[in-house]
Amino acid sequence: MTIQLGDTAPDFTAETTEGQLSLHEYLGDSWGILFSHPADFTPVCTTELGEFAKRKDDFTKRNTKLIGVSVDSVESHRDWSADIAETQGEGLNYPLIGDEDRHVANLYGMIHPNALATATVRTVFVIGPDKAVKLTLTYPASVGRNVDEIIRVLDALQLSSEYSVSTPVNWKDGDDVIISPAISDEDAKEKFPEGFITMKPYLRLTPQPGK
Ligand code: BEZ
Repeated sequence: MTIQLGDTAPDFTAETTEGQLSLHEYLGDSWGILFSHPADFTPVCTTELGEFAKRKDDFTKRNTKLIGVSVDSVESHRDWSADIAETQGEGLNYPLIGDEDRHVANLYGMIHPNALATATVRTVFVIGPDKAVKLTLTYPASVGRNVDEIIRVLDALQLSSEYSVSTPVNWKDGDDVIISPAISDEDAKEKFPEGFITMKPYLRLTPQPGK
C-alpha cells in the first residue's frame, strides 16, 4: 500500500517493547513519528535508534511521540536495546514494534522488495494530531537518517500548521519564513505585526512568528 501525504495514517494494534498498543490511541492529541529500520543487531540501525533515544526530550518538547518498527521480535528488540545503550549511551526509551507477521510493514508499504527483499527499509512517517500523514521519508539500508533533519521538518510542519506560513530552502528554527500568497498585504500587516519584506508579490518574508 502506498501512503500519501494527507492520508489518514492507518491505525493498527501491535506488540511493542512497551506492551500492546494501538497507534491512534497511543498518539492521542500528540504529533507522532512512526519509523522503520531494517534489522536489529545491525550497525547503522544501532546508531539511529540510539540517536532517537538520546533526542527523545527534543521530540517530547515538540509534543511528539516516537514509535519504531521492524520485522524482528519484541524479545530481539529488548536484547538489542542493551547493545544500543552500551554503544550509543542510551537504550530504547520509546516503543519498538515487533512486526514479525509484517502487518504494520505491509500497511505502510515499508518493504521495498527491489531494495531489500525481506525487511523494512528506513522509512519515516510524520503524523499530525489529526492523524493525517504530514511528511514521509525513505532511505536505503546503507544510509543512516539525520535526526536533526527530522526535528527541523517537524518544526517547519508545526509552524505551518499554526500560522499561514511556509519555510524556504534550508530553513531552520529562527530563520525568516514565507507568508502564504493567499494572504493579502492588508491581512499580512495585521497577522505579522513584526512586518514583512516583499521581494516579489508572491515572495514575502517575515520573522518567524512566535519567536
Ligand atoms: C545496518 O543497519 O547497518 C544495515 C541493516 C540492514 C542491511 C544493511 C545494513
